Amino acid sequence: MTSKWKPDSWQNKSASQIPTYVDKKKTNIVKNKILSYPPLILAHEIKSLKKQLKKVCNRKAFIIHGGDCAESFSELTLNTIQNNFTLLLQMSLILGLVHKKPIVQIGRIAGQFAKPRSSEFEILNNKSLYSYRGDIINKYKFDKNSRKPDPLRMEKAYFHSAATLNLLRALSEKSTFPKKQLSIFDQNFLKFNLEHELIIKKIHYIFEYLNVNKNKFCKLGKFYISHEALLLPYEEAMLKLDDSNVEDYYDSSAHLLWIGERTRDINGAHVEFMRGISNPIAIKCSSKILPEELVKLIDVLNPKNETGRLIVITRFGYNKIEEFLPNLIRKIEQIEGRNVIWCCDPMHGNTFTASNGYKTRNFIQVLSEAKRFFEIHKNEGSYAGGIHLEMTGKHVTECIGGKMNISEKNLKTDCYKTLCDPRFNSYQALEFVLQLIDQSSY
Ligand code: PEP
Ligand code: CO
Repeated sequence: MTSKWKPDSWQNKSASQIPTYVDKKKTNIVKNKILSYPPLILAHEIKSLKKQLKKVCNRKAFIIHGGDCAESFSELTLNTIQNNFTLLLQMSLILGLVHKKPIVQIGRIAGQFAKPRSSEFEILNNKSLYSYRGDIINKYKFDKNSRKPDPLRMEKAYFHSAATLNLLRALSEKSTFPKKQLSIFDQNFLKFNLEHELIIKKIHYIFEYLNVNKNKFCKLGKFYISHEALLLPYEEAMLKLDDSNVEDYYDSSAHLLWIGERTRDINGAHVEFMRGISNPIAIKCSSKILPEELVKLIDVLNPKNETGRLIVITRFGYNKIEEFLPNLIRKIEQIEGRNVIWCCDPMHGNTFTASNGYKTRNFIQVLSEAKRFFEIHKNEGSYAGGIHLEMTGKHVTECIGGKMNISEKNLKTDCYKTLCDPRFNSYQALEFVLQLIDQSSY
């Protein structure tokens, strides 16, 4: 039998990927301060997302989930936030028009500050230091002091999230699509002076259509925020009781939280924490997960088999999806009848190191995994409910391929800015959704 959940019951479990803060007193002071701060998200907003996700579960809506791999404190600027927001919106408008369904827009934003790492230490020039784990934990700079986990950074993350969210709320209040974005598109594309006429034409066509027909599918819906619930001391401090149901705790740091591939141990601290919060949650799964293992996890995380509670984000890799996804779908849905939303992250299973040492992803492989995701779900009679991408509105060259023709030799320091994984730039992200959709729908 599962023991009773409490806000701190995760502390009795083994917690991977969480730093040990040496100064316990300082850590507790920070945690208590955050506990006293107002929530970033209120319970009714979380319920509103759940309602949208129920629609996805019933095949009546589709999710676009994306943003930075890791946000950084130094990028708290109008441009960064606005460009990321606009990009997600543009993608969602295109998808909405094509799917003829409302699109649930969820950003990896306003709190995506904690990163799981495959090694605890990073070695550079024969020096070994604690790995960078996201701005909420330590600094990126490669020196001993910067890499030391500092609990005060949790409080900074709270305020950075609040400032980002404040702008997002204002931006998402505008109810029409900003026409001037069209020219921004063109400028971005022209910068690279490459073959893209067809895509620009297509985008023009779509936006003209959108502006002429105030189609209900293209209305800008609410914008939701999400991040990986990795740093549990922070997440615990963000817990609030739901006024309308004092039994229910929700995590007020985001609408949606997810459990990463490296922290989804059924006996571990992250699963323990997440099972007790009332937010919708997601779980990332690679080819390492066994179908029966996922059933057990689902039962712990969604014991009432509620619709709209749980998203399974699969990230197999373009060459593995065929082998693993059909079995997972059959076991979870057809055999066990569990209600989940299937979402595809075609990025994390397709990362490799380029010949010049940069971590990258190939556009065509990312697209191929996403396309297979849709085809497999169609074959299995299940619903492909969403897509999850790492992308940025910045002019970066971090992923290779696409019409921009970025090659491995284009991966240079000045345009490679990610603190963690390589992201699609806005051109690649838009090209991706355009390639994904059924062309005949226009
Ligand atoms: C991520 O989403 O940035 C990430 C680390 O993903 P995963 O847990 O799927 O590896
Ligand atoms: Co990532």
